[in-house]
Amino acid sequence: MTNVNKLIQNHRSIRSFIDKDIPEEMLDSILFSAQAMPTSHNNQDISVIVLRDNVKKNIIAELSGNQKHIKDAPVFLIFVADLFKTHLACKKNNMVQNLENHLDTIITATFDAGIAMGAAIISAESLGLGITPIGGIRNNIAGVSKILELPEYTFPLVGLCLGFPYNIPDKKPRFPLPAFAHEEVYQKEAMEGYINEYDEIMNNYLIKIQREQEVNWSYRTSTSVSKPSSSAIESLLKEQKIIVKSQES
Ligand SMILES: Cc1cc2nc3c(=O)[nH]c(=O)nc-3n(C[C@H](O)[C@H](O)[C@H](O)COP(=O)(O)O)c2cc1C
Repeated sequence: MTNVNKLIQNHRSIRSFIDKDIPEEMLDSILFSAQAMPTSHNNQDISVIVLRDNVKKNIIAELSGNQKHIKDAPVFLIFVADLFKTHLACKKNNMVQNLENHLDTIITATFDAGIAMGAAIISAESLGLGITPIGGIRNNIAGVSKILELPEYTFPLVGLCLGFPYNIPDKKPRFPLPAFAHEEVYQKEAMEGYINEYDEIMNNYLIKIQREQEVNWSYRTSTSVSKPSSSAIESLLKEQKIIVKSQES
């Protein structure tokens, strides 16, 4: 196996960091790697806000459900869907950005940001840093947008804690590969069996790491996906002019 594959397959999220800054050239290298990734039509519809300021990090940690690792990470990146640049491109060329099909626009920008974040993660881990993505920033998407002074046509997608690891947890198991990579067509009949198998794998993993009081994958996931989702995201997207009025009727 190549070193890159070994590195990627050794990933685990790190939620405790030593008190050490990330050198500027290391951070630049991570940002260049993220920026080097493909984007749809070369739209480059992503921005990354680099946060080092402790006051801002502390506020965002609170807004994100009191996630201490955001405070402790020396650098917190926030990946932003950025349709402001494309708006300005239109303005320069006397055109108007068409957001009629906002769903596709949101999928595109989100997908592009995911690819960029993936590269940032691999780059950071290759440099000996630990990371944790933070979707919790969308708990208070309007508050986070305000702190970052995001202009119209932008919205924050996900954060990324970066820092030198304090301790490295066990690797979290994944589903058996055939539940992830299906041969030719989706293997629907087999899926319930894989879920039972994975619940068992996670139960054993939780016992091994002495967190057996926690629940297995299917229960944990069910409690999360069965909750109503916040309408605040849609409100913010309207405020930021991503969802245009003509779509509402
Ligand atoms: C988009 C995204 C959002 C996430 N949000 C959070 C978060 O808000 N807080 C957190 O502690 N971990 C968060 N995670 C980390 C996942 O919980 C973690 O990746 C998953 O449990 C697998 O563990 P591993 O990364 O150690 O393999 C997020 C991961 C992704 C990809």
